Amino acid sequence: MTKEDFYQLIESRKSIRKYKTEIPPKATIERILAAAMHAPSGKNRQNWRFFIVTGDKRQEYLRYSQKSWLGIKDVLKQRLKPSLYDFTERFFYTLGEAPIIIFCYSHNTDDERYLTSIGSVYMAVENINLAALVEGLGSCTMGAPLEIKAEVDQFLGVTTLPEYKAKQLELLCAVTIGYPDHNPPKAARIIEDRVTWL
Ligand SMILES: Cc1cc2nc3c(=O)[nH]c(=O)nc-3n(C[C@H](O)[C@H](O)[C@H](O)COP(=O)(O)O)c2cc1C
Repeated sequence: MTKEDFYQLIESRKSIRKYKTEIPPKATIERILAAAMHAPSGKNRQNWRFFIVTGDKRQEYLRYSQKSWLGIKDVLKQRLKPSLYDFTERFFYTLGEAPIIIFCYSHNTDDERYLTSIGSVYMAVENINLAALVEGLGSCTMGAPLEIKAEVDQFLGVTTLPEYKAKQLELLCAVTIGYPDHNPPKAARIIEDRVTWL
């Protein structure tokens, strides 16, 4: 891979919200997850935890996704153009037919600061996004499940885990994955006022 290839990869990543129903091979998902776990983490605690939802369970989750929409829609109504608002609503109702959802948790313990624990997991999440792209897949990181965090914990069964009972397991986001079925325009990036050189 050349330097140009690398930057081109980073710049071409964009959130995909409409997927083909074809299911990516399990080996591909495992490779993507392996890439996720090459991310850096505070004190190398590798405190990410991933729960993969496919098949009937994925279908069952749509009910929850629809519920998470109710917590977000009013803010989006003010922020988005009507056409984009409608598209986003549809995405929450169907998850764009994504065949795979990866729920990403942090295992927070006292031997690491809270914010670095969270940051470590998001480092892994971006590796997921980029590895998916390399595999010809699309992805969308979603904070929406946080609207119904406790219900998602129940749905996934993580509530039975000892670390959950110790209040150490925290849902941070979900990532939808599948073969892209649209090619949305790249969301604009703002360069101004983001970087200060001293
Ligand atoms: C932490 C986080 C939470 C996000 N939550 C959602 C979400 O709930 N629903 C959604 O459609 N997109 C979500 N996104 C995707 C952003 O809307 C998207 O990354 C942003 O608009 C820039 O577009 P791009 O990813 O295509 O470059 C989220 C992204 C991040 C990083």
